[in-house]
Amino acid sequence: MEIEIIVADITQCETDAIVNAANESLLGGGGVDGAIHRAAGPELLRECQRIGGCPTGQARITGAYRLPARHVIHTVGPVWRGGQGNEAELLASCYRESLRLADEHGCRSIAFPAISCGVYGYPLDQACRIALDTVRQIGGLLRQVERVQFVCFNEDIAALYRQLLGRKAA
Ligand code: AR6
Repeated sequence: MEIEIIVADITQCETDAIVNAANESLLGGGGVDGAIHRAAGPELLRECQRIGGCPTGQARITGAYRLPARHVIHTVGPVWRGGQGNEAELLASCYRESLRLADEHGCRSIAFPAISCGVYGYPLDQACRIALDTVRQIGGLLRQVERVQFVCFNEDIAALYRQLLGRKAA
C-alpha cells in the first residue's frame, strides 16, 4: 500500500473516495465537513438525511455528487476530552471503518483529512500517529485499496506526517 502526504483541499481530490470528518448527525457543519457539503451540492445533504446519523468511531458511505471523487465516506471522530474517554480507540476505529468501507466498494484510492484535529481538538501528533499506525495495520488486509492519501490543510500537519513516516521507515 502506498501512503502519500499532500497539502491540498480535500474537495479537489480525485481519489475514488474522500473521507469527511463529520459529526453524529451527518447533517453538515464547519471545517472540512462544511467544505465538502458546499462543494458536493445539496444532494449530498439529502442522502445524509436518509442515513439518519452515525455513532462516533463508525463510518457511512454516500455518493460524491459534484465532487471529483466517486464516494464520500463520512466518519465521526471523537471529541478530545483529555485522553481518558477512549479517544484513541475511537479515532483508530474511524480510520479502520473508513478503509473497510472503501475496500468493500471497490475503491483503489482514498483521501483522509486529519480527523478530529480541528474543532474536536485532538492533539495533532497523537492523532497523526494513530492515523498512520492504523492504516499500516489494516493495509495488508485490504483487497482493493492501493493508495492512501493524508490530505493536510497546511504545511505544519504535512511536516508532522512526513516526520512520523520517516521515523517509522528508518
Ligand atoms: N481539506 C482538507 N482538510 C481540511 C479542509 C479541507 N477543505 N478544511 C479543514 N481541514 P475539522 P474535526 C482540516 O474541524 O476536528 C465540523 O463542524 C482542518 O485544518 O473539520 O473532526 C463537523 O461537522 C483540520 O486539520 O474536523 C464536526 O462537528 C481537519 O481538517 C466537527 O467539525 C479536521 O478539522 C468535526 O471536527
